Amino acid sequence: MNIRSLRIWPPLLLAPMAGLTHSALRTTLLLYGGVGLLSTEMLSASRLPGENEQLSPYLMKTASERPLSYQLLVTGEEQIPAAIHKLRSLGADCVDINLGCPAPRVRRMGGGSCLMDDFSRVRRILACCRRETAGPMSAKIRLGESFDALKLRDFCVMLADEGLDMLTVHARLRRESFVRRPHWEWIGQIKQWIDIPVVANGGIDSVETARLCLRQSGADGLMIGRTAATTPWIFADIAREVYGAGIPRLELALPDLYATFVEALQRFSPDRRLGRLKEFTHYFAKNYFFGHHLATRVQSSQNFAEARSRAETFFASNDPGKRTSLP
Ligand SMILES: Cc1cc2nc3c(=O)[nH]c(=O)nc-3n(C[C@H](O)[C@H](O)[C@H](O)COP(=O)(O)O)c2cc1C
Repeated sequence: MNIRSLRIWPPLLLAPMAGLTHSALRTTLLLYGGVGLLSTEMLSASRLPGENEQLSPYLMKTASERPLSYQLLVTGEEQIPAAIHKLRSLGADCVDINLGCPAPRVRRMGGGSCLMDDFSRVRRILACCRRETAGPMSAKIRLGESFDALKLRDFCVMLADEGLDMLTVHARLRRESFVRRPHWEWIGQIKQWIDIPVVANGGIDSVETARLCLRQSGADGLMIGRTAATTPWIFADIAREVYGAGIPRLELALPDLYATFVEALQRFSPDRRLGRLKEFTHYFAKNYFFGHHLATRVQSSQNFAEARSRAETFFASNDPGKRTSLP
């Protein structure tokens, strides 16, 4: 898949996830390979220009983390010039606009999914973005408030008309929780309305679901979120099995994988490590039959060293069991 000068191969994208898609997870994923485009967490467009990339836990990265898309949480076009200027200085490979986040605090600010109700503001944001960068520009949406094909079509057509290069669709309505089955077939509809690459997101957690999603959506690429933290080898598996990519197999025992992630967290300042370890462990623990014990012990730790040692104690007496399903 190509968007402007950027080749995304395999067409497997890491989803932006607040608290999860930071440098430590990205470098862990790179050990296995198969990710065509990495992502940051959502970044406040208004705060971004003042962030120090050497110290900011949101911007820190290693040279290997490429190609890397930066997701902007935008509320108005006036934030765009300075934000894009900063992203250019950081060497962003793609700029993604968050139009789908349903979190109340994001909506209260006027960002995320509430922008889908304000066509003219989104139009101004994208037009400004397009003026500021000739590089790849994408957006991520949900399906909307309710199934309203006309509204969704008009919105997607407007995005493409304003110069968007790629659209990612989390195939759920705004209020639908992660336990609801994603509506991948709607992505097929969207593909008929616009002629830019459309990426499917939501509920892809195995080679089988990747195949099913591609069959139902006809999407140009797949974006994976939570499963990146549960089984970081998911991209490599799908790349090999679905896209025929010749990626060497890395066999790493789960405790060693966890230790690698912990090691990568060392580059964050001490006060930022624990929260990130807790967030990751919530998902990683699903590899173990008694994983809820691991998650609870790490969750209730007072500091990083305690969390790490409790995790090691858990690993010493627990073999991975049957995986529980994703929440
Ligand atoms: C902890 C967490 C944080 C998230 N943060 C963001 C975010 O910053 N920006 C965004 O567009 N979506 C965010 N999402 C949504 C994901 O990008 C993705 O759309 C969703 O998890 C569905 O994909 P999955 O089923 O593969 O996890 C977040 C999801 C989770 C679970």
